[in-house]
Amino acid sequence: MTTTDGAAPIRRVGVAAAPETLDVAERMGTDELRALQLERLQWTLRHAYDNVPHYRRAFDGAGLHPDDCRELGDLARFPATGKADLRDNYPFGMFAVPQDRVRRVHASSGTTGRPTVVGYSERDLDTWATVMARSIRAAGGRPGDKLHNAYGYGLFTGGLGAHYGAEKLGCTVIPISGGMTPRQVQLITDFEPRVIMVTPSYMLALVDEFERQGIDPRSSSLQIGIFGAEPWTEQMRLEMEERLDIDAVDIYGLSEVMGPGVAQECVEAKDGLHVWEDHFYPEVIDPFTGEVLADGERGELVLTSLTKEAMPVIRYRTRDLTRLLPGTARPGMRRIEKITGRTDDMIILRGVNLFPTQIEEVVLRTPGLSPHFRLVLTTRGRMDHLTVEVEARPDCPPERRAPAAAEVAGGVKNTVGISLEVVVVEPESLPRSVGKLQRLSDRRRRP
Ligand code: DLL
Repeated sequence: MTTTDGAAPIRRVGVAAAPETLDVAERMGTDELRALQLERLQWTLRHAYDNVPHYRRAFDGAGLHPDDCRELGDLARFPATGKADLRDNYPFGMFAVPQDRVRRVHASSGTTGRPTVVGYSERDLDTWATVMARSIRAAGGRPGDKLHNAYGYGLFTGGLGAHYGAEKLGCTVIPISGGMTPRQVQLITDFEPRVIMVTPSYMLALVDEFERQGIDPRSSSLQIGIFGAEPWTEQMRLEMEERLDIDAVDIYGLSEVMGPGVAQECVEAKDGLHVWEDHFYPEVIDPFTGEVLADGERGELVLTSLTKEAMPVIRYRTRDLTRLLPGTARPGMRRIEKITGRTDDMIILRGVNLFPTQIEEVVLRTPGLSPHFRLVLTTRGRMDHLTVEVEARPDCPPERRAPAAAEVAGGVKNTVGISLEVVVVEPESLPRSVGKLQRLSDRRRRP
């Protein structure tokens, strides 16, 4: 992480969990972990093949049998699974246990067509709570903490996933869910939680609400923010840590694989997210060829569940772009680099690839501009045209707006190599999200 002038920014780090409080798997060395993974992977492949017609067909079609997996590297020969496979088997066709063993379902709405449905056995729910408790502890949460959970409750995995993990760790959960922003601020003020779990975009809306109510967000009881469910940048971390006087850490997960708690950043390092490899096996592939890439190379994250009973997933293509890095705070477990975007969020503008996070970095470095922005794609003549609409900060003098817009356009031109239009708009004029933020509004004419 560097600033525009190349100097290292002031970086705060939190207090590590005491080693004796960690789970056994968090303390495992790589060899021991790999042996455990192989045993669990072989079980998972057999379980999927024996109980899910989709996997039996897919493996048979590839001329493979679960017994062909003799080492972890053999997994790469097995076919990948995509969102379309889940949709085709809607609603319960990917389940590997009878319905009376399924304790809960969740679903992701998706932007088009049928939702994807996922199921959990009793043991799966316990595993999920365990990895979530582990994640909260790695983020700096401790038994006895009050935890404000503003992830949405319901079919979305964020709310209930965080909830049971926090209870398992021994926290007091405030299950507020998303929305009713003024009330959220009131409850944070009155209940004095130490930890908040929320999407980064909704955290920004809460910070604005604190200020609107005349309360300095830095004076709140919050010390730790566990932010995920959407991409956010290092620049956004600095913004949140500065405006809230907290440690901001990243949590990753997806419903198809479990929900939140697949990977988590440790507060003492803030250097990417440890994949809880005793339950989820990561690979990174070239999204175009499907070829498995070496650790350290950037590509699409593919995840295989290692212990899931109700809905095992084999080589699930997440569409999330990242790379695998060696373990640090948990030496045995690899990390994923902070996710820069999804293959589906990539905007191809006149042949150049662009992710909304690249704009976020530039906007947040520009004095006078707030983190609230959206991208609008339109057609001008025969060309795609991208406009960044970004709110001025309330204290931004009017004469600062045009230079700020020019700085963003110049910054994006320099870093990404594309020209776009930047419009600085009034504070609080863009829509706010209460959950996952949709940054892009695609208004292009379709041929
Ligand atoms: O968003 C689960 C979750 C809830 C994760 C709360 C973290 C916190 P889905 O709705 O299935 O599940 O969406 C999964 O969200 O494939 C990523 O594209 C994106 N995503 C999740 N966490 C992060 C993150 C939940 N930390 C999809 N950084 C994933 C970037 C993230 N993107």
